[in-house]
Amino acid sequence: MGRLIKGGKVVSAAGSSQADVLIEGEKISAVGPNLQANGHTVIDAAGMLVLPGGIDVHTHLDMPFGGTLSADDYEWGTRAAAIGGTTSVIDFALQSMGHPMAEAFKTWRAKSEGKACIDYGLHMAVTDLGPNDSWIDEVDQMVANGITSFKIFMAYPNVLMVDDRTIYKLMERTAKLGALVCVHAENGTVIDAIVQEALAAGNTGPLYHALTRPTVAEAEAVHRVVAISDLAGGARTYIVHVSCEDAMREVESARKRGLPVLGETCTQYLVLSLEDDMGKPGFEDAKYVFTPPLREKKNQQPLWDGLKDDVLQVVSTDHCPFRFADQKTLGLESFTKIPNGGPGIENRMQLVYHHGVNAGRISLERFVEITAESPAKIFGMYPQKGVLAPGSDADILVWDPKAKYTITAATQSMHTDYSIYEGFEVKGNARQVYSRGELVVDNGRFVGQVGRGRYLHRGLPSA
Ligand code: URP
Ligand code: ZN
Ligand code: ZN
Repeated sequence: MGRLIKGGKVVSAAGSSQADVLIEGEKISAVGPNLQANGHTVIDAAGMLVLPGGIDVHTHLDMPFGGTLSADDYEWGTRAAAIGGTTSVIDFALQSMGHPMAEAFKTWRAKSEGKACIDYGLHMAVTDLGPNDSWIDEVDQMVANGITSFKIFMAYPNVLMVDDRTIYKLMERTAKLGALVCVHAENGTVIDAIVQEALAAGNTGPLYHALTRPTVAEAEAVHRVVAISDLAGGARTYIVHVSCEDAMREVESARKRGLPVLGETCTQYLVLSLEDDMGKPGFEDAKYVFTPPLREKKNQQPLWDGLKDDVLQVVSTDHCPFRFADQKTLGLESFTKIPNGGPGIENRMQLVYHHGVNAGRISLERFVEITAESPAKIFGMYPQKGVLAPGSDADILVWDPKAKYTITAATQSMHTDYSIYEGFEVKGNARQVYSRGELVVDNGRFVGQVGRGRYLHRGLPSA
């Protein structure tokens, strides 16, 4: 028999209503008012919101970076995601320069196999199209493998950065296929020059990571990549981790011109800031060294407005955790050696709900849209994921809008020895989390099986 989630308020991007949700096997079989119990197990959701499971499309699990490895592997990262109400992630397979994409695909499938607690997909981070772009057909092969989004970095010279020609050639192909290119937009070479100037002046502390990466360097790269995508035949382009108003205005301008450009911001840029979190004594601010860096507080409200007004479509986490004690401290002598990234996969839903919905910045429906429905559409998983409808996977949150919770490293599941949101108080939290019909989180406790998560063979974007 199935399970009937009864008496809650079911939310989608289109609207909310009192309705029951029937789960049979891995799928939702019915959604509607007053569904009959008919021998199904009834789950009382009175006073609760019933939401599609969150989808975090920007995570870095088990990733070699900055001379070390991100601290959450697929088991711990996806367990933390589930506890926070996220039921699917899309992580990055990283192509090594000089090696084919197929190798990266194999490596990342091996990292995740038998470990993931929820369903997961992969983007392919492209660093090399081979001699005379001779590996370009691998793009088609990746799409056939269910990887319908490609990532390029315009930052991190000599590590991940690609040149404009590579971007253009990749986009020519993705434009033909209807696939998506995700872009880390920052002018890496100019930033590198500014970094060298800071070091020469003896400015080596974590704050200088932020001060050497001005917002204009982000906005310039957005502007440039939008132009390249247009030249390449109108390639669908998704700007990841938009951190500031300058860069967001470039996304807005592209969209106003009718170009297929989408934008994502991350939780940290919405609730943390340069003033509040950088410049802390005792190397403490190394915890907040990620890229792009934290920006001045004045950027926060424009980003929220951009989410409300559909300038930006998604909130992700860019979860790339490193422990403070033995990883962040690699950069004690120079901020250039601090592994870039921060933990957040566990807290996205709580923080966006609290600071967005409770604070009146976005509606409940928009919350569902930017955390689940749009990610599912943009990344080719809709309506399997991102919506509560008959036939969809039963990825469901029973969300208690009154639950109060204080975020702290002491009780988190993520494998870092700190939280960038330490002491943040939120109202609204996942009470139960179902993944393909299975209860995986009950009152903050993971009760699922490790390794039950499945690889998501994604289709082409539908938004
Ligand atoms: O600092 C960050 N964001 N680390 C992960 C890699 C990236 O740029 O997304
Ligand atoms: Zn990035
Ligand atoms: Zn990232």
